[in-house]
Amino acid sequence: MTAKPLSDARILLIVGGGVAAYKSLELIRRLRERGADVRVVMTEAAKRFVAPLSAAALSGHPVRSDLFSLIDEAEMGHIELSREADLLVVAPATADLLAKMAHGLAGDLAATTLLATDKRALVAPAMNVRMWLHPATRRNVATLSADGVALVGADEGDADEGEMACGEYGPGRMAEPPAILAAIERALEAPTAIPLPPGVGARDRGALAGKRVIVTSGPTWEPIDPVRFIANRSSGRQGHAIAEAARRAGARVTLISGPVALADPPGVEVVHVETARQMRAAALSALPADVFVAAAAVADWRVEAAGAEKLKRDGGPPALRLVENPDILAEVAARRADRPAVVVGFAAETERVTENARDKLKRKGCDVIVANSVAEGAGIFGGRDNEVAVVSAAGVEAWPRMDKQEVARRLIDLIARLARERA
Ligand code: CTP
Repeated sequence: MTAKPLSDARILLIVGGGVAAYKSLELIRRLRERGADVRVVMTEAAKRFVAPLSAAALSGHPVRSDLFSLIDEAEMGHIELSREADLLVVAPATADLLAKMAHGLAGDLAATTLLATDKRALVAPAMNVRMWLHPATRRNVATLSADGVALVGADEGDADEGEMACGEYGPGRMAEPPAILAAIERALEAPTAIPLPPGVGARDRGALAGKRVIVTSGPTWEPIDPVRFIANRSSGRQGHAIAEAARRAGARVTLISGPVALADPPGVEVVHVETARQMRAAALSALPADVFVAAAAVADWRVEAAGAEKLKRDGGPPALRLVENPDILAEVAARRADRPAVVVGFAAETERVTENARDKLKRKGCDVIVANSVAEGAGIFGGRDNEVAVVSAAGVEAWPRMDKQEVARRLIDLIARLARERA
């Protein structure tokens, strides 16, 4: 019985720098054909042998190789990179990579990922016969196998003795992609998570494990007529990052998103809406939940009677009568039977940021207000970074400017603490 079929598996492929790196492209293709999700990390040396672009095109995901460029919010950190995977596959596993793994070195992204992981690894060694037979490599392979690392090829009965690129004969050649594929399937037959000692990594199992979280995000569009609408500058980046961070913390997440140019975060149920009234209906029907985070920039007003037909210019400028939209945050916070234990609102202010936020906390009946300045020039709306003050019954905490992912992570930590206190 396969614990995880290849068609559902997420493989993190680490490509080392060796002549056999070209075979890793074939491996990606075969894995994808079988339905696996493949993310690729290449060492700097690997990039000398195969183009990252080829691996990106075949895997359908950007290729990572730089430990220090993971600040791009489209990318995941190295911890998530390995933890999101079911299995780490190192192919080709060079003598250098095997040595790093055996000794727990973490000098580049490939090595760090292999050290920071909580999943098992399968290595497909590839190197010159003398390197393979060298006592140092023998020792490293023995260490790795004692550590539970699976090995395919080289001299493990997969008949990989033969002429090498360097002209010598003997063991050390990388297994062919079909043999690696079969080894991956075998590895997936057993659980691939490495168990941790009791008490360790509890947070990684998820500060919000088992909790239900609802997040609203993005702007709302309020129609004027079938082609025109009132909107705002919200990009949804902060709300989407919160949904993603909640999911990483183990929560079941419903993200209710207004129109944004962002991809749906993986593993999150996403409900797409346009208007405030649709957002309200989606939020109420997603209840009950343990946590509600209102990160959306909901339009406060809508046009009372949106035109059924396009308003014509020759009718002159229309007099638009605006009426108030339902306040979703206040309504959820005021629920009796099914009020979420933690209700978080946002306050986008252009002046007197914390005073207004304190006031909003009371007025809307929520537990936390995340206040940010959206004054012109702050670059918050639509930007990568955020600078917030967190207002709650405990007081005001001003956080330094950081990217929206980091704000999301810290906020989820704070929410998890509050949820625990209230449980
Ligand atoms: N919000 C909401 N429904 C609305 C309006 C706002 O859920 N109809 C939520 C937002 O998601 C945000 C918080 O309320 O979490 C703050 O909204 P904001 O528009 O800044 O507050 P207002 O009540 O409009 O107050 P002010 O006009 O003083 O800014």
